[in-house]
Amino acid sequence: MVEIKNSEEVERLRAAAKIVAKTLVLLKEEVCPGISTEELDRIARKKIEDEGAKPGFLGYRGYPSTLCVSINEEVVHGIPSSERIIKDGDIVSFDVGSLLNGFYGDAAITVAVGKVKPEHLKLVDVTKKSLNKALAVVKAGVHLGDVSHAVEKFVEKEGMSVVKDFTGHGIGRRLHEDPSIPNYGFAGKGILLRSGMTLAIEPMVCLGKGDITIKKDGWTAVSSDGSYSAHFEHTVCVTDLGCDILSEV
Ligand code: MF3
Ligand code: CO
Repeated sequence: MVEIKNSEEVERLRAAAKIVAKTLVLLKEEVCPGISTEELDRIARKKIEDEGAKPGFLGYRGYPSTLCVSINEEVVHGIPSSERIIKDGDIVSFDVGSLLNGFYGDAAITVAVGKVKPEHLKLVDVTKKSLNKALAVVKAGVHLGDVSHAVEKFVEKEGMSVVKDFTGHGIGRRLHEDPSIPNYGFAGKGILLRSGMTLAIEPMVCLGKGDITIKKDGWTAVSSDGSYSAHFEHTVCVTDLGCDILSEV
């Protein structure tokens, strides 16, 4: 069942998601060659706690950290570590969740560090634009499949692949609520979006094929062909006019 949030609930989601957005801005400023992903995790945790919230992912299904940091061929759910050092030329995805006043916020960005190959910059750009394509479709009365299809169509036109093993999701008092939001599908199919639905839309895109493998740590998803991958995510609320992006600073 897809919950419809009232305006008070939406404002609570916005407050949680805004903290996520601010944390992503800070991470973008702090990331540089030589920093460990553990240090970035510490920075994110402090920011979230200073803002009065709790890390949304920490302890979720046993996840050990505040952040997911997924570098290059890592798609999502990279676990921060003191041994993992960011290098010049990396593309780094940060996925952040927060919990404030009983509601979650969830958003992700991918940033290019230093001198990144043009094809990898293109991947980051296409992934970001694919999220914008999805957001441009979101509106009360459209089918969920219209949103999914917009992502897939745009990514494939650019010769890249969407990852099918992970999806976006509804969000609210739980991090993952109905509906599941695939980054592929058919226009005109799926549930009808209604005003007050709160969604985390998150395209994950690979330069090669979209097949993934989970590493031995049980979390880190990498592209099976080793191709680079990028990820962007926003928490949004469906409105009669379109979509209200909650995870913006
Ligand atoms: N944005 C991701 C998601 O919605 C992050 C979850 S990581 C986890 O699935 F650790 F919390 F699982
Ligand atoms: Co999410």
